[in-house]
Amino acid sequence: MGKIRIALAGVGNCASALVQGIEYYQRYEEQQTEWPLGLMHRRIGGYGPGDLEVVAAFDIDARKVGRPVSEAIFAPPNCCLKIVPQVSHIPVAVQMAPVLDGVSPHMAKYPPEHSFVVAREKPVDVAQKLKESGAEVLLNYMPVGSEDAARYYAECCLQSGVSFINCMPTFIVSDPDWGARFEKAGIPAAGDDVKSQLGATILHRSLVHLLQKRGLKVDRTYQLNVGGNTDFLNMLNRERLMTKKRSKTEAVSSLLPEDFHQDNLHVGPSDYVPWQKDNKIAFLRIEARGFGGFPMHIELRLSVEDSPNSGGCMIDAVRCVKLARDRGVGGPLTSISAYTMKHPPEVMDDEEARCRVEEFITGTRER
Ligand SMILES: NC(=O)c1ccc[n+]([C@@H]2O[C@H](COP(=O)([O-])OP(=O)(O)OC[C@H]3O[C@@H](n4cnc5c(N)ncnc54)[C@H](O)[C@@H]3O)[C@@H](O)[C@H]2O)c1
Repeated sequence: MGKIRIALAGVGNCASALVQGIEYYQRYEEQQTEWPLGLMHRRIGGYGPGDLEVVAAFDIDARKVGRPVSEAIFAPPNCCLKIVPQVSHIPVAVQMAPVLDGVSPHMAKYPPEHSFVVAREKPVDVAQKLKESGAEVLLNYMPVGSEDAARYYAECCLQSGVSFINCMPTFIVSDPDWGARFEKAGIPAAGDDVKSQLGATILHRSLVHLLQKRGLKVDRTYQLNVGGNTDFLNMLNRERLMTKKRSKTEAVSSLLPEDFHQDNLHVGPSDYVPWQKDNKIAFLRIEARGFGGFPMHIELRLSVEDSPNSGGCMIDAVRCVKLARDRGVGGPLTSISAYTMKHPPEVMDDEEARCRVEEFITGTRER
């Protein structure tokens, strides 16, 4: 089927997990072994997980700009665990991007091994570089709250005919005006804010759904998340956090009855613990009532490696977007967005989303 040419906007921990994952699955394919560990789909429309190829990358950090992607993914402050001992040389240098609002001022108070260090190079014209690279899909990995930077990359995609996958919570693919622009341009897009393959959001949604299906009434619930990567450090700036909080909260509230009081729902990133690095801990509590009004409490603690956990969804989102390109379908892709994103253009039950993705892959559903 050929390769899927991808561009990375932000070479942080999620990009590191994805690039390492591509190599990991390439080795699996070469060895022709059984069903690979940790994938939701082995092949999508003929594309394997190892068929993604990085052809362009943009960042602003002095320790990443100018270096080959295969080295930059391991540069500080990245702290994603090693999925493979080494990544084969990728002959694509990270290019300096416009900083815009990508770096929160509070980062300067933290030592460089934890925070971003802005490079002095002149920024490139990203739309032009996308065209030159032959990229087909751009993955937007901007830090939370980088509203201008996220929209800049979306504009560059519209100018260059490149598909846009929005992994962070600036509402673009789920925004009707932006969605219409991608539709008009005939460019498929997926977003917003990638879910983890098995993270706090899908677990919280599944438990709430289960309780409701079994006739229990959810009274109150919270989901508190702590971690030690730059995503969590960035989110200490509460002003940047609004969209993330909304995206995570709506992923759960969309399953609750309309009269559920919002004061009884709290979902969000809660603190930054540097020594945790890329390990994320989520604490979840649900208070509910069942038969005859008897009370029931669920307490759950989830410990995951944050960035590899986003890779499982991304590797499917990229292949579905490429499939849409092959079929000449443009605009927001509702099924894969609902399946892999927290804030999709069309909200639906996770099982419904999964069924629609299967239909999309087999070609019985357009988007
Ligand atoms: N499981 C997950 O880790 C997960 C899940 C859902 C969503 N997300 C979201 O994905 C995004 C990326 O997460 P991450 O963990 O890779 O973050 P990160 O902090 O590790 O990486 C962000 C990268 O963007 C770079 N950057 C900043 N401004 C830039 C600009 N203007 N242009 C280009 N690069 C710029 C930084 O130097 C850094 O390399 C975040 O918004 C995060 O909330 C992550």
